Amino acid sequence: MALIKSFTWKIILPSCVKATNKPSSKSKVHVSNQVSMQRLLLTDVSNPGSPISLNELSSSLVGSNLHVFTLKELQMITHNFSRSDYLGEGGFGKVYKGCVDDNLRPGLKAQPVAVKVLDVNGSQGHREWLAEVIFLGQLKHPHLVNLIGYCCEDEHRLLVYEYMALGNLHDQLFKNYSSTLPWLTRIKIAIGAARCLAFLHGEEKPVIYRDFKASNILLDSDYNAKLSDFGLATDGPQGEDSHITTCVMGTEGYAAPEYINTGHLTTMCDVFSFGVVLLELLTGRRSVEKNRCKREKDLVEWARPMLKDFTKLDQIIDSRLEGRYSTEGAKRLAAAAHQCLSHNPKSRPTMTTVVKALEPLLDLNDIPIGPFVYTVVPPGDHGHGQKSCGQKKNEKRGDGGKEKEDKKEEKGRNRRRKRRCVRVVRSRDVYSDTALYKALGTSLYSPRN
Ligand SMILES: Nc1ncnc2c1ncn2[C@@H]1O[C@H](COP(=O)(O)OP(=O)(O)OP(=O)(O)O)[C@@H](O)[C@H]1O
Ligand SMILES: [Mg+2]
Repeated sequence: MALIKSFTWKIILPSCVKATNKPSSKSKVHVSNQVSMQRLLLTDVSNPGSPISLNELSSSLVGSNLHVFTLKELQMITHNFSRSDYLGEGGFGKVYKGCVDDNLRPGLKAQPVAVKVLDVNGSQGHREWLAEVIFLGQLKHPHLVNLIGYCCEDEHRLLVYEYMALGNLHDQLFKNYSSTLPWLTRIKIAIGAARCLAFLHGEEKPVIYRDFKASNILLDSDYNAKLSDFGLATDGPQGEDSHITTCVMGTEGYAAPEYINTGHLTTMCDVFSFGVVLLELLTGRRSVEKNRCKREKDLVEWARPMLKDFTKLDQIIDSRLEGRYSTEGAKRLAAAAHQCLSHNPKSRPTMTTVVKALEPLLDLNDIPIGPFVYTVVPPGDHGHGQKSCGQKKNEKRGDGGKEKEDKKEEKGRNRRRKRRCVRVVRSRDVYSDTALYKALGTSLYSPRN
């Protein structure tokens, strides 16, 4: 991260120091001609030899219709970034809800928006902001969140997106205690996200997303999945190159093993991360659950052996589904996840293949619609009643010593209750895993990235 920050934003975009809304027509024509044939790459803008000013940046993202907002305007639409408009916070900074319409800019559709404000003291900075503007400003897809505009004034960096009413998949899957995502909704989300990755990888110049995880999958009011957060995205290898080498960035539990070990980044790293999200959808468990016993902490390590053994599959499927899932669909989803999670990146499928494998799952109609069965969930289990390491042991031993085991279980429950308290306190803090890898592997940094 330190090395990335060594590209100061003044070098990359000299005119960022003062933002205005009137681009110079001379440079506009020049840059437009330059990029109209091909997508503007992040490296084009990062190259100090060919600096593109803020005004030129906006006009060079041909056809993107990005609006350049002033800080004052964004303060106004979020009631000065008020608590009541607060949506959440990640590694980039806080996110607020606001509304825009054509009073703000002629032709601007009246709609709710999400305004992301860079925390100038945080771990992310201009590079992440720029990546978001460059990628989302040019790439348009039904499963990509729409970037409406941005603000770049002095050291302030803000992003304005379409508002996604149901927030992110991570919260829907793991923090919604009142209801659970139905099976077909999970499939729909997986397909949407897979289509988006297939689109990114299939570009003439492939884009590696690099931070694919449940919290970066946003959901609209119909559970349509849209990817956001291109802060870590990068242009993929071109020509003869099979990979690019870069410092290791991403999120614990989602990053591909070869990337963590070598810094070699390919589109197959995204495929691995996609496999992790498939597992989260299947099991209702987070990619890393530090409070579980050693064997179960890492979702991939725990679940992988059971993905190919269909007789064991029901042991890992999210118990909150209460059996209401397609058995055939679960098998196929598990098989797809297993392939995506292959140790060898070359054995992983392309995202286009994954889309083709998942789409038919929406049509399987073997989902039981029997009577609702209420299951009592032990406290501390967050409603995910999969067998824990301890529970399994009890079953093996039979009823002898049950009293002893009951006492042990009670102790365990108390411990879990205590742990739960710790988690609640933590969730009030900024919780961004993205930074985790940033500290590692800076020696793998290559100036290309
Ligand atoms: N376009 C949007 N519409 C509605 N809510 C959004 C939008 N973008 C982000 N949010 C919400 O804002 C919060 C912070 O999101 P953000 O993407 O910055 O962080 P994150 O993904 O949780 O963490 P990380 O920094 O590790 O990616 C999340 O709760 C997210 O759901
Ligand atoms: Mg995010």
